Amino acid sequence: MSPDAKDQVLAQASAPAKVILIGEHAVVYGRPAIALPLPQLHARAEVLPGAGSLVIESRYPGADGLRETRVDLAEEGPPQALAVAARAALRHAGRTERTPWRLRVESEIPTGRGLGSSAAVAVALVRALGLAAEPDEAWDPQTVAELALEAERFVHGQASGIDPAVSAYQRPIHFQEGRARPLAVGADTHFLVADSGQHKGTAEMVAGLRARQAERPLTHGAWFDKVGRLAEDAVRALAEGSFRWLGQLMDSNHLLLQAMELSTPALDNLVAGARGAGARGAKLTGSGGGGAVIALVDTDRQADVAQALREAGAVSVLQLCIPATG
Ligand code: MEV
Repeated sequence: MSPDAKDQVLAQASAPAKVILIGEHAVVYGRPAIALPLPQLHARAEVLPGAGSLVIESRYPGADGLRETRVDLAEEGPPQALAVAARAALRHAGRTERTPWRLRVESEIPTGRGLGSSAAVAVALVRALGLAAEPDEAWDPQTVAELALEAERFVHGQASGIDPAVSAYQRPIHFQEGRARPLAVGADTHFLVADSGQHKGTAEMVAGLRARQAERPLTHGAWFDKVGRLAEDAVRALAEGSFRWLGQLMDSNHLLLQAMELSTPALDNLVAGARGAGARGAKLTGSGGGGAVIALVDTDRQADVAQALREAGAVSVLQLCIPATG
């Protein structure tokens, strides 16, 4: 193969980070939830010609710096999430590990911050492999999400599938029991997403809640039901562009997440800072125990709320605008 042919990209794809607007954790127990794509941060994958078998080279930020790995699917080795996602995609395409491709995966999404980094990596990888295998027909988002979920289950144990779904659909979704439905948005809706700088693994947070839920199933069941109702109300609030209502729903969700022991003093501080500076509502987003908060903020309050979040300890603050749907 000529040097040029070796570097010729056969297919490429990207997938965004995500935030959960309402319903994290309760969604693992079958209640509905709402997730939003966070398009400032992406994972990317590209497929190049290789030799002999599928090799995955990845580079992404881990808890302790940049993580670089190389996995050859034809070789024995410790199980790896990216290999799980790649095998799922190859199986769906009717191909084997002996497919001679080099898959390069990169991500700018920090891990352990509730921003769906592992799901976005898996979604980008599956989409790129799908395009390389079937260039004329991109796989639909539900299929991509289901294949990527195999890797999510490997990483997080009990994953609901909401993270790969929103990353694959790349638009706001209602999610329940494995099914995603794109949502109507009545007015441009502005959020700030603030990173506490603290890391916590989703698997650990999900397992901790599972243990507490097993001890007090009735109490947790009632909390999950309440969260599910907040999510259904939030579908209407978003569709109507009712920011006051949406903010109240976010605040109520944070109280329930606190009751479930998923918040931390640092996250509560960020939530209080945002509300004190005029956010309409704020809550932790993702698995909690660290990670990020999301605040609903009118555009004329954004600068003040962003400043308050930084003063309350945020290491980064991102703007997220969810545009009105047509
Ligand atoms: C993580 O972004 C959301 C959780 O509900 C886990 C899941 O749904 O798989 C905590």
